[in-house]
Amino acid sequence: MLVIADKCPEISVNVVDKNAERIKRWNDKDFKNIPVFEPNLIPILKRTRDRNLFFSTNVSKEIQLADIVFICVNTPTKLEGLGSGRASDLKWIKLCAKEIEKYSEGDTIVVEKSTVPVKTAELIKQILKSPQNSSSSIPKNFSVLSNPEFLSEGNAIRDLLYPDRILIGGEDKKSIDLLSSVYEKWVAKEKIIKTNLWSSELSKLTANAFLAQRISSINSISAVCEVTGADIKEVSRSVGGDSRIGDKFLSAGPGFGGSCFKKDLLNLTYLCEHYNLNEVAAYWNSVLEINNWQQKRISKEVFEKLCKNASNKKISILGFSFKANTNDTRDSPSINICINLIEQGAFLNIHDPKVTEDEIKNAFASYFEDIKQLNNNDKPPKFDDHWLFNADLNKSVKNADAILILTEWEEYKEIDWDKISKLTKKAAWVFDTRLIVDNDKILKTNLNFWCLGKKNSFE
Ligand SMILES: NC(=O)c1ccc[n+]([C@@H]2O[C@H](COP(=O)([O-])OP(=O)(O)OC[C@H]3O[C@@H](n4cnc5c(N)ncnc54)[C@H](O)[C@@H]3O)[C@@H](O)[C@H]2O)c1
Repeated sequence: MLVIADKCPEISVNVVDKNAERIKRWNDKDFKNIPVFEPNLIPILKRTRDRNLFFSTNVSKEIQLADIVFICVNTPTKLEGLGSGRASDLKWIKLCAKEIEKYSEGDTIVVEKSTVPVKTAELIKQILKSPQNSSSSIPKNFSVLSNPEFLSEGNAIRDLLYPDRILIGGEDKKSIDLLSSVYEKWVAKEKIIKTNLWSSELSKLTANAFLAQRISSINSISAVCEVTGADIKEVSRSVGGDSRIGDKFLSAGPGFGGSCFKKDLLNLTYLCEHYNLNEVAAYWNSVLEINNWQQKRISKEVFEKLCKNASNKKISILGFSFKANTNDTRDSPSINICINLIEQGAFLNIHDPKVTEDEIKNAFASYFEDIKQLNNNDKPPKFDDHWLFNADLNKSVKNADAILILTEWEEYKEIDWDKISKLTKKAAWVFDTRLIVDNDKILKTNLNFWCLGKKNSFE
């Protein structure tokens, strides 16, 4: 919405959210309090906010005034009922559709922006056809479009300014062309793909499944490198050099995270099973299995290197966000790996340049809340005594038995390992799951080193 407001000053863009705290932060005069960290976001916000971009909690009024309503609400994995743990929870989508039916007036284009299972537009259309006790007597007409979002966190602004493609699915040509005309203000017409509703919905799930599959593919090969003596960076480069394969999304690491890949893969496998396509479901589920396995094997590697005794060992965790340049921790590999290590008895000192202590606390709490809901188990483990947050990197590694790099933040690439080796315990271990440590430099210190996807870790 920020980029639409910037590129289309003649359009009034009104962002509404029921979460008053979030809206308050989006309106905060101090730009440091904006709830999302994204490179290059603030300058655009400064230009557009209160010009033609407005944030409020007045959902009913803005729906009433709108010609186009984008539904951008969360669609997390269901935690109860049919499809629990796999299907997407569409209760927020349904609620939005009901509110749109109730408050809109005249012609309204309803745009599905959230990532949803195929056929969700049908559900929205059904709700829009059922009168919801409307406050207005003005007749209502709706057209439902699917316009999934392909931005990637950490690169969101660049992806929105220079998208590879814009996808619009629908049945009504006039509505499709109107939405297309908004994007045409800054995106070339050839990049705007117009399809039917179901192709559009399925394309988004498929795109995320393919991206996740590439990560699992290269991560599976990282394990083969460690036992054979091949080097995953060299393999990635060689494989990605083939123009049929391409070099994107071939960096081995602790696995994918973020709010989308896992939920969208679960969603796709659920959909396939629903249509009795069990082999297809198993295929996509294996992408998730490799991701979980990669995180388990990293925790196991740390445990083994600490002489199979993590009890009271102090491990410094570098990076908690699911990737660099975002403060998003949803489904971050760091959550699973930290929990595994704490379960082995380790004490963690967690550092991240953008994630706060409260966000880490919330990430652990919501992990245990999900487990509790899925398993009907009401006893989350005592956990908070086993980790500390430290905003100062030097303090966070002090007296550490091991340092585990989990996010590829720029500042971790520039660490002076000689200096760090004087702060940690003697011969502490450094585990690099992001392949960002300069091997030659660390070799000159007394630190022990393990790097994902390489055989030659050294002690
Ligand atoms: N985050 C991404 O990078 C990304 C990328 C592409 C697609 N998506 C998709 O976009 C959707 C939203 O993702 P997100 O990361 O922004 O989620 P989010 O949870 O950060 O934000 C959703 C917001 O919707 C608000 N909300 C829920 N119900 C509402 C209602 N009835 N009225 C008003 N506000 C309501 C919530 O308060 C919340 O602030 C998801 O379907 C996701 O899969 C996200």
